[in-house]
Formats: sequence, structure tokens, C-alpha cells
Amino acid sequence: MTASPSPTLARHDLIARFTEIVGPTGILTDAADTAPFCTDWRDLYHGRALAVLRPADTEALSRIVRLCAEHDVPMVPQGGNTSMVGGATPDGTGREVVICLSRMNRIRNIDPHDLTMEVEAGVTLKAAQEAAWEAGFMLPLSISSEGSAQIGGVLATNAGGNNTLRYGNARELVLGLEAVMPDGGVFHGLRRLRKDNTGYALRQLLVGSEGTLGFITTAIMQLSPQPREIVAALCAVEDADAALKLLGLLRGRDPALVQAFEFMSGTGMDLVTSLIPATSLPLEERAPAYVLVELATPRPDAELREYAEGVLGDALEAGIITDAVIAESEGQRAGLWKLREEHAEAQRRAGASVKNDVSVPVSHVPELIKRATAACTALIPGIRPAPFGHMGDGNIHFNLVQPEGMAPEAFLARSHDIMDTVAAIVKELDGSFSAEHGVGQLKPYMMPAWRGGAELAAMRHIKAALDPRNLMNPGKVLPPATQDA
Ligand code: MLT
Ligand code: ZN
Repeated sequence: MTASPSPTLARHDLIARFTEIVGPTGILTDAADTAPFCTDWRDLYHGRALAVLRPADTEALSRIVRLCAEHDVPMVPQGGNTSMVGGATPDGTGREVVICLSRMNRIRNIDPHDLTMEVEAGVTLKAAQEAAWEAGFMLPLSISSEGSAQIGGVLATNAGGNNTLRYGNARELVLGLEAVMPDGGVFHGLRRLRKDNTGYALRQLLVGSEGTLGFITTAIMQLSPQPREIVAALCAVEDADAALKLLGLLRGRDPALVQAFEFMSGTGMDLVTSLIPATSLPLEERAPAYVLVELATPRPDAELREYAEGVLGDALEAGIITDAVIAESEGQRAGLWKLREEHAEAQRRAGASVKNDVSVPVSHVPELIKRATAACTALIPGIRPAPFGHMGDGNIHFNLVQPEGMAPEAFLARSHDIMDTVAAIVKELDGSFSAEHGVGQLKPYMMPAWRGGAELAAMRHIKAALDPRNLMNPGKVLPPATQDA
């Protein structure tokens, strides 16, 4: 199922036909020009492409897909190329075309009554957030790569990020979609309805399908009221157990206020403050772990700052936290978020690292961190566990940085051992091996053990029904059928 077919038309004929559709500025064929589209940003995968195509509208995309379907050309959809799992990188055969929707970058409409935004696939998440904000609303989806990640990819991967605990993942924010299906047909589903029970939820099938079932071209996103007050605080805690108690306290007082609850290990914070310029810890002493809490409300008279001081004061008195600082200005709030958002970059600068984007029920996060830390330290002495992430929704990036002095290649050679060690614990805790980064080409091998039986069989039936020639992003998400047994 995962091997790509070979195009049935000669390369130069295909290129000519593609050029007819997208025009000379919409196609790249030189190896030097296509190279940036053939490597993922983590530098894990290096492929080749027959061409990179940049259609300007849905009609052009539909014509390209029809041509590819007719001549067995495998297609790799790509947005901002920020996948963590190689989900948008072509294979090494040079038979695949990479198709980028970055020219489809209009925000078509923001409707203040429907609280919706109609946005094309190539708009970056940040541009969409800013447009919503300028119109007096909020698009409540926030991820570290939002400056580059594009709406099409954000939806195709069902991105989660920092505000999932309050607003849900990308999936929960999509009301309607337009998409080009694997045969080139256009699914016209740009509906802005809160209620619409009319058959299978095709849009939800496309969301999270990682480009294996079609191209998302435009979406209707649901907007939220802007918060009138936001308070961010960095809290020092002894461990994840204390962090969980803090979450319980905040939710017990007023669950509606918690907008983000991000955990960071002391190791991860030390890496950020030592490797990322213009960062420093705004607390008197280093701590074993930290939580970045953000409270927000659309109510104008909430006196949120006083509320936050009160609840954090109680947490301090109860010994749940050992210190805290509340941002006094928008600049300080951005500074606190920088400490969190730079975790991945700091880890990259610290040498080779292995990512485990996992989730468990929120109540199990402390146990996950304790057990996975012990198991990985036993596996590779000197390894530096630096877990961080969206603790409020149960998604921890259980990332591990190589031991100091170890050759990066030697560490990376143990990647699968490390991932399997963490995964075994996650499984015992009823979690998932991929919380928000998806499966891509990094993790299909884990699908039979985690999603096998009727679940994987149904996925294969869906894929075969919609994309019988396996032309849409082959090799991603589903493993070769031979691995099913
Ligand atoms: C983040 O939340 O910063 C990214 O999803 C994390 C990562 O690099 O693992
Ligand atoms: Zn994340």
C-alpha cells in the first residue's frame, strides 16, 4: 500500500502539462530550487521531487490532481514545512511532486455575526490570528511554529498547541472545508453551520489525515470573543505532582479562566536560559520544574490580576508552588512565553535530541514523567530528559537531549530504543504515541501495535476507497500492509 506508483507519462511531458496549468512561475524543477521543499526542518528526511507545484487557486489544483491521478504521479502536500514527523517530505525516488498551496493565501471573510473566518490554505496561522484579532475576535489556536505553519497543514495535522485545554484542537475549530479529493473532484463544504447532521463528517475525516486523503484548500474557522484581560504567571514547583495540584486548585476556583497550563522541566529551562539570547529566569532561584499559567476572560470587570494574586498566594501558602512571578506588562508576558516557546530551539542547540510527543490522561502526567525519566536514564546514562509542554491537556513533549560529550550520531542511533521505552510506559498509562505532531513518516511503524485490528483495518478501507492508487502522500500515516500481522 505504501510504495509509490511510477508516473506513466515521460518526465518532460508531465512538466509541460503542469506548466500549462500553473504557469512558469508556479513550477520549480531544478534540484537547487526544489531542495528546500525536499527536507524537513528537523533535518531528519531528505527526498527528491519531480517538481514543486504552486497552484494559485482550487481550480488549478483540481486540474493538477486530475493529471496526477491519470498518470500515476504521487503527490505530497506541503504547507509551511514545519512537520515534526516528516509528514510533508517526499521520498527519495524523485517520482513525487510536492504541491504547495502558499499562493492561496487570502483571508476571504470574517463574519462578526456568525463568528467565523473563511481562510485559504496558504495563510500562515499567525496571519490568520492577527486578522481575527484586528476584527475584534480571536482565533484561539496557538502553536510554536505559527509564524510559518499554514492553515492547510495546521488542519491536515489537527494541530493542538497551547490552548487546547480551553478551546480544543484544530478539529474543534473547523466548521467547514473545501478540499480537492484524490481524483481531482472538489468537495464544496464551506458551510458555516454549528448544526449540520447530514451524513458522514467528511471534513473531520480530512482534518488530521495528514494529506493522505486529499488537499484542504479553504476552511471556515470558528472564532471566539477576545479576552479583555489576560494574566500570565510563571510558577516554580518541586515536580509534576505539585503542578497537577496547582491545576486542580485553579480549576477548582474557576475552570473557565484557565487558558494555558504549560509544564517545563528545570533541565529544559536551564537550556533555554543558557542557549537562547535575551532570556533569563525571572525568579530568584532555579527550580526542579516550572509551570506557565495563563488566565483569561472576556468579562470586562473580572479583576483578574487580583484574582491571580489571591489564588497563587494560596498555592504558595499550601506549599504547592515555591515561587511565582506575574507578568506586569504585555512585554513581560511575551518574555514568559519566550521561555516556553524556545524549548525546542534550545534543545536543538544543545545537540541531538529525541522527541516523544505523547499524551496521557492529565491525572497520569506525573507518573509518566517519573517513570519515563527513570527508564530513559537507565537506558542511556547521562541522557538529559527535558519534558515540557501542554500539561493542562495531558500532552507532554517527553524530549531527551543527548548526554554531554556523546557523539550525536551514536545518540540518534538509539532513537527507536528511546521512543519504544517511552511508548511502553505511555501505553500502560492509556496514552497515545502521538498527541499533536501526527504520524507522518516517522511513526507509521507504531500503528499496528497501537491502532491495529478493526481500527487500522477501517483506516485502510477508507484510504483504499478514496485513494485507490495510493497517490496522496504515500508512505505517511499507514504502514505497509505487511506490518499488520
Ligand atoms: C511545542 O509545543 O513547542 C512543540 O510542539 C514541541 C516540540 O518540539 O516537541
Ligand atoms: Zn507542542
